[in-house]
Amino acid sequence: RDGAWRGAAEVLIGNWTGTSTVPSRSLYPHQWSWDSAFLAIGWRHLSPRRAQRELESLLGAQWGDGRVPHIVFNPSVPLGAYFPSPDFWRSSAAGAGRGAPATVETSGIVQPPVHALAALLVHEADPEISRRRGFLTRLYPRLARWHDYLARRRDLGRGGLAAVVHPWEPGMDNSPCWDGPLARIEPAEPGTFRRADLDHGAATDRPTDLDYGRYVRLAAEYRDAGYDDAAAPHGFAVEDPNFNALFIASEYALAEIAAEVGAAPAGHLARAERLTRALLDRLWDAEAGVFRCRDLHAGGDGLIPETSVAGLVPLIVPGLPGPVVDALLRTLTGPHFALGDRTGLAPSYDLRGHAFDPSRYWRGPAWFNINWLIERGLRLQGVPERADALRSAFLRSAAGSGYAEYVDPLTGEPRGARRFGWTAALTLDLLG
Ligand code: DGY
Repeated sequence: RDGAWRGAAEVLIGNWTGTSTVPSRSLYPHQWSWDSAFLAIGWRHLSPRRAQRELESLLGAQWGDGRVPHIVFNPSVPLGAYFPSPDFWRSSAAGAGRGAPATVETSGIVQPPVHALAALLVHEADPEISRRRGFLTRLYPRLARWHDYLARRRDLGRGGLAAVVHPWEPGMDNSPCWDGPLARIEPAEPGTFRRADLDHGAATDRPTDLDYGRYVRLAAEYRDAGYDDAAAPHGFAVEDPNFNALFIASEYALAEIAAEVGAAPAGHLARAERLTRALLDRLWDAEAGVFRCRDLHAGGDGLIPETSVAGLVPLIVPGLPGPVVDALLRTLTGPHFALGDRTGLAPSYDLRGHAFDPSRYWRGPAWFNINWLIERGLRLQGVPERADALRSAFLRSAAGSGYAEYVDPLTGEPRGARRFGWTAALTLDLLG
């Protein structure tokens, strides 16, 4: 094992709390939902037990209605260390009607459903210990209820996809895709909350105060509606191709998990196929060669005219029509994403887009989880040389940046937090 392996392993071990892994000791000191999935995918190479524990602790905080919260709070971390803290979300009180757990505090929103895919990969790393511990048998019903929540409660557009109701839900908080839908949201008064992220991260790497005001308003409105999807105003409601592509990949994984635990896979396969058809019908922009986000409150088709890497993540979806795959590959390697140039990584947003910013969070920087997904997508779609090149670029940038949260896609300069959990975890996975 070389230095990159040891460096990445040290980050994971240093971020482990005993039951889960913090994305960052400073900026994100609790458990985050999609982070946990990527962290488990890395942990499986070091300790299949910890990988299982990571997912079990997250799903242990699942709500009665099936939702998996985007943050599970660690009660030993001081309230001021992260905002919005448990006293903002008030999950056990405000979410009681939706079955929020009484013994642990969580947020009330969700993040992309990568968990079933992660659970399958964790199982495959050591099937024997997984079977002995009944890992998939215990997780399967929880994962199935999580997917049912998304399919039944979040199809706000009634077109067969899951909608997100807050910019933190798709995981790409300040993507330029949200600028239009967010413009309608009245920001919370600046003096009514205090950002903790700026204590740990450079302001130029983070979302703006105006964005934060809107994030706070939307979360407070959802909370005040008891986190009830039928009753909440949902001033922000968007169908996102990254979120739904991960839903599809996880639904296929759930079919395999069902078969392993002796349940019926057919319903999962049928849902994955339905979701794929809806993704193509509702979000594919053939002219641009990319999947778009759809704003459910806009007129017309609602397609948001911004080109985000979210629109390329569907490369991980099996069974896409050939012309769609060809167009996605052209977009990925063409001037808007220039995969293979400079750092070799895909940026989070159109290099030629009017809002491109190489430093600011999801408005341009290259992220390691997304590049890991694209690497996987390239293999699935039968372009292994491209996947190999991306793998090398990922490993170079991750170790070279001190396992940064994200990097400038033009120079590779580290941005955001360092010793970041999923950057280290996915390094271990690619070193395999
Ligand atoms: C943050 O706090 O910046 C997260 O992205 C929201 O979950």
